[in-house]
Amino acid sequence: MVYVTRRATFSASHRLFNPRLSAEQNELLFDKCANAMGHGHNYVLEVTVAGEPQPETGYVVDLKKLKEVIKREILDKVDHKHLNHDVDFLSGVIPTAEHLAKAFWQILLPKIQGGTLYSIRLHETENNVIEYRGEQ
Ligand code: NI
Repeated sequence: MVYVTRRATFSASHRLFNPRLSAEQNELLFDKCANAMGHGHNYVLEVTVAGEPQPETGYVVDLKKLKEVIKREILDKVDHKHLNHDVDFLSGVIPTAEHLAKAFWQILLPKIQGGTLYSIRLHETENNVIEYRGEQ
Protein backbone atom coordinates (compact mmCIF):
# COMPACT_ATOMS: atom_id res chain seq x y z
CA MET A 1 0.00 0.00 0.00
CA VAL A 2 1.23 3.48 -0.86
CA TYR A 3 0.20 6.55 1.14
CA VAL A 4 -0.05 9.91 -0.63
CA THR A 5 -0.53 13.13 1.33
CA ARG A 6 -1.69 16.53 0.19
CA ARG A 7 -1.04 19.42 2.57
CA ALA A 8 -3.16 22.58 2.65
CA THR A 9 -3.40 25.57 4.94
CA PHE A 10 -6.19 27.84 6.06
CA SER A 11 -6.81 30.51 8.67
CA ALA A 12 -9.97 30.65 10.71
CA SER A 13 -11.33 31.84 14.02
CA HIS A 14 -13.33 29.92 16.56
CA ARG A 15 -14.57 29.93 20.11
CA LEU A 16 -14.63 26.82 22.27
CA PHE A 17 -17.88 27.10 24.15
CA ASN A 18 -20.60 24.68 25.16
CA PRO A 19 -23.94 26.54 25.25
CA ARG A 20 -25.39 23.92 27.61
CA LEU A 21 -22.92 24.95 30.33
CA SER A 22 -22.61 28.12 32.37
CA ALA A 23 -20.10 30.85 31.62
CA GLU A 24 -18.08 29.72 34.65
CA GLN A 25 -18.07 26.08 33.56
CA ASN A 26 -17.02 27.08 30.05
CA GLU A 27 -14.18 29.14 31.43
CA LEU A 28 -13.07 26.24 33.62
CA LEU A 29 -13.17 23.81 30.69
CA PHE A 30 -11.85 25.94 27.86
CA ASP A 31 -9.98 28.74 29.66
CA LYS A 32 -9.05 31.55 27.25
CA CYS A 33 -10.32 29.49 24.29
CA ALA A 34 -13.82 30.41 25.58
CA ASN A 35 -13.20 34.17 25.17
CA ALA A 36 -16.40 35.72 23.90
CA MET A 37 -15.00 37.13 20.67
CA GLY A 38 -13.05 34.02 19.72
CA HIS A 39 -9.47 33.71 18.50
CA GLY A 40 -7.68 32.52 15.39
CA HIS A 41 -5.46 29.70 14.18
CA ASN A 42 -3.37 29.05 11.12
CA TYR A 43 -4.40 25.47 10.47
CA VAL A 44 -2.42 22.91 8.49
CA LEU A 45 -4.51 20.14 6.97
CA GLU A 46 -2.97 16.89 5.71
CA VAL A 47 -5.18 14.56 3.69
CA THR A 48 -3.71 11.10 3.15
CA VAL A 49 -5.01 8.70 0.51
CA ALA A 50 -3.96 5.04 0.39
CA GLY A 51 -3.82 2.76 -2.62
CA GLU A 52 -1.69 1.19 -5.29
CA PRO A 53 -0.24 3.13 -8.23
CA GLN A 54 -2.49 2.85 -11.28
CA PRO A 55 -0.82 1.02 -14.19
CA GLU A 56 -1.52 3.82 -16.67
CA THR A 57 -0.36 6.80 -14.61
CA GLY A 58 1.83 5.47 -11.82
CA TYR A 59 -0.28 7.60 -9.47
CA VAL A 60 -2.29 6.37 -6.50
CA VAL A 61 -4.33 9.53 -6.80
CA ASP A 62 -3.94 12.54 -9.08
CA LEU A 63 -2.62 15.17 -6.63
CA LYS A 64 -3.86 17.99 -8.83
CA LYS A 65 -7.40 16.64 -8.56
CA LEU A 66 -7.00 16.01 -4.83
CA LYS A 67 -5.82 19.59 -4.40
CA GLU A 68 -8.92 20.85 -6.24
CA VAL A 69 -11.29 18.71 -4.18
CA ILE A 70 -9.75 19.94 -0.90
CA LYS A 71 -10.01 23.53 -2.08
CA ARG A 72 -13.61 23.26 -3.29
CA GLU A 73 -15.01 21.12 -0.47
CA ILE A 74 -13.03 22.40 2.53
CA LEU A 75 -10.85 25.48 2.07
CA ASP A 76 -13.41 27.60 0.24
CA LYS A 77 -15.82 26.98 3.14
CA VAL A 78 -13.53 27.54 6.14
CA ASP A 79 -10.68 29.84 5.11
CA HIS A 80 -10.98 33.27 6.74
CA LYS A 81 -14.26 32.26 8.35
CA HIS A 82 -15.55 32.10 11.89
CA LEU A 83 -16.05 28.38 12.44
CA ASN A 84 -18.83 28.89 15.02
CA HIS A 85 -20.95 31.05 12.74
CA ASP A 86 -20.05 30.84 9.06
CA VAL A 87 -19.77 27.14 8.21
CA ASP A 88 -22.93 25.11 7.48
CA PHE A 89 -21.42 21.72 8.23
CA LEU A 90 -20.18 22.86 11.66
CA SER A 91 -23.49 24.26 12.78
CA GLY A 92 -24.20 23.24 16.38
CA VAL A 93 -20.75 21.69 16.81
CA ILE A 94 -18.04 22.86 19.22
CA PRO A 95 -15.34 23.62 16.61
CA THR A 96 -12.43 21.76 18.16
CA ALA A 97 -9.79 20.30 15.85
CA GLU A 98 -11.24 16.87 16.67
CA HIS A 99 -14.65 17.86 15.33
CA LEU A 100 -13.11 19.59 12.31
CA ALA A 101 -11.10 16.50 11.40
CA LYS A 102 -14.20 14.27 11.63
CA ALA A 103 -16.29 16.70 9.58
CA PHE A 104 -13.60 16.99 6.89
CA TRP A 105 -13.43 13.18 6.72
CA GLN A 106 -17.18 12.87 6.15
CA ILE A 107 -17.05 15.44 3.38
CA LEU A 108 -13.99 14.09 1.59
CA LEU A 109 -14.67 10.34 1.90
CA PRO A 110 -17.11 10.11 -1.03
CA LYS A 111 -15.14 12.61 -3.14
CA ILE A 112 -11.77 10.85 -3.34
CA GLN A 113 -11.13 9.08 -6.62
CA GLY A 114 -8.38 6.58 -7.26
CA GLY A 115 -7.43 5.61 -3.71
CA THR A 116 -9.13 5.36 -0.35
CA LEU A 117 -9.13 8.14 2.21
CA TYR A 118 -6.75 6.96 4.95
CA SER A 119 -6.39 9.86 7.38
CA ILE A 120 -7.11 13.49 8.10
CA ARG A 121 -4.42 15.22 10.14
CA LEU A 122 -5.15 18.70 11.37
CA HIS A 123 -2.45 20.85 12.96
CA GLU A 124 -4.17 23.49 15.06
CA THR A 125 -0.90 24.83 16.41
CA GLU A 126 2.73 23.86 15.91
CA ASN A 127 2.40 21.47 18.84
CA ASN A 128 -1.20 20.23 18.70
CA VAL A 129 -2.09 17.76 15.96
CA ILE A 130 -5.28 15.74 15.65
CA GLU A 131 -5.60 12.70 13.39
CA TYR A 132 -8.78 10.91 12.32
CA ARG A 133 -8.78 7.62 10.41
CA GLY A 134 -12.49 6.91 10.32
CA GLU A 135 -14.20 4.30 12.44
CA GLN A 136 -12.11 1.14 12.47
NI1 NI B 1 -8.35 27.64 19.45
